[in-house]
Amino acid sequence: MTAPRKLFVKTYGCQMNVYDSERMTEALGGEGYVATDKADDADMILLNTCHIREKAAEKVYSELGRLRALKDINPDLKIGVAGCVAQAEGEEIMRRAPLVDLVVGPQSYHRLPAMDRAVRAGERALDTDFPLDDKFDTLTDRPKARRAPAAFLTVQEGCDKFCAFCVVPYTRGAEVSRPADRVLREARDLVEAGVVEITLLGQNVNAYHGHDGGLAGLIRDLAKIDGLERIRFTTSHPNDMDDALIAAHGDCEKLMPYLHLPVQSGSDRMLKAMNRKHTAEQYLKLVERIRAARPDLLLSSDFIVGFPGETDADFEATMDLIRAVEFGQAYSFKYSTRPGTPAAEKPQLPEGVMAERLARLQALLTQQQHAIQDGMVGRTVKVLFEKPGRIAGQMIGKSDYLHAVHAVAPAAAVGQVLPVRITSAGPNSLGGELIA
Ligand code: SAH
Ligand code: SF4
Ligand code: F3S
Repeated sequence: MTAPRKLFVKTYGCQMNVYDSERMTEALGGEGYVATDKADDADMILLNTCHIREKAAEKVYSELGRLRALKDINPDLKIGVAGCVAQAEGEEIMRRAPLVDLVVGPQSYHRLPAMDRAVRAGERALDTDFPLDDKFDTLTDRPKARRAPAAFLTVQEGCDKFCAFCVVPYTRGAEVSRPADRVLREARDLVEAGVVEITLLGQNVNAYHGHDGGLAGLIRDLAKIDGLERIRFTTSHPNDMDDALIAAHGDCEKLMPYLHLPVQSGSDRMLKAMNRKHTAEQYLKLVERIRAARPDLLLSSDFIVGFPGETDADFEATMDLIRAVEFGQAYSFKYSTRPGTPAAEKPQLPEGVMAERLARLQALLTQQQHAIQDGMVGRTVKVLFEKPGRIAGQMIGKSDYLHAVHAVAPAAAVGQVLPVRITSAGPNSLGGELIA
């Protein structure tokens, strides 16, 4: 028997890439590869890349520069680039980086086994098609190995929204939903392998239409699976938050009280220029309706500062919206010009203006986040324990509200949802005591 070949996958970008990296590892498992967490030990290195901002895309080329040394030591090492940079710049990567053996886009990775064979035969392989054969259908069933308690499950991919700043509609293609029966089958397999929490993923997950009842219908069917205790979904677009999904937040016990609902800006002028197709007022009304269904729901958002044309008044409108909503968590970015997107044609704001606005915005968001975390002290929350903490005897998990929580607990707590009284709030996590 030949020794297994080793595959090292490095993942950048969003959760959908995390899911894809797992599936690519599984797809290459059939070719005799096993995963390794050491690059210098690998027979193949795959970079699963992100194109969302300029810095993310640059990382690929600097990482490839570092990998050259490994290839010098081991000429049999194969190097592949997958993900959104592969999709956007595949041919350029092939030209600029001769050490790259294969480039595979996010919609073609079920073809990796054939590409691997070509590469082993000394060829270079590039596949950035949007093939008609659905990659999810062609992938093998997931192996039955024991899994960590929380898992991602991609149910929808691509985006038809074309926000003026964003590359995703180009790198991931048009919106596609996986049929509900496939998703339910994959969810049952995950639960059998020890998973108790599933996060449904999609670039616009609430536009999911693979079930007659939309995402809410899928969630209600998933909730019937014994052993699956928690359901989450991300990322949602405000315009696709329909009544059924809001209602599910009110009465589906397994659906967790946390919602990532990116708004990007609080200025109607900017929202229009960004092609977001809603106003600040409509977002606030929506938040009100969601909170009426589930008053303790914790909201999270993404923000872009310094979109072309953003004035001080536009920026202040974003600060006002943040004050009105009170976010429990948020991600914020300076606008980054992406080639090929409509906003790339417009004059950019000075870097200093963007930096100053971002700092003020982040200070406000951090203040809100800390206030909400401090407010958890004294409350009892349910925690899904996931792994041992850094301090002996401590275990780490996530509360219903997605806060990281550490508490003294037995090793057997991993995979269980247990009540914890919160006793302290740090900047990034909460501390608590297990309630016997
Ligand atoms: N589908 C999701 C977002 C995917 S991208 C949604 O619609 O909310 C994740 C986040 O990256 C976006 O919400 C946005 O805040 C940020 N982003 C996308 N393109 C960007 C750009 N060109 N510059 C800066 N931030 C960007
Ligand atoms: Fe990008 Fe907008 Fe689509 Fe989100 S909704 S992925 S920000 S184009
Ligand atoms: Fe990045 Fe592609 Fe995700 S651009 S954010 S990896 S969809």
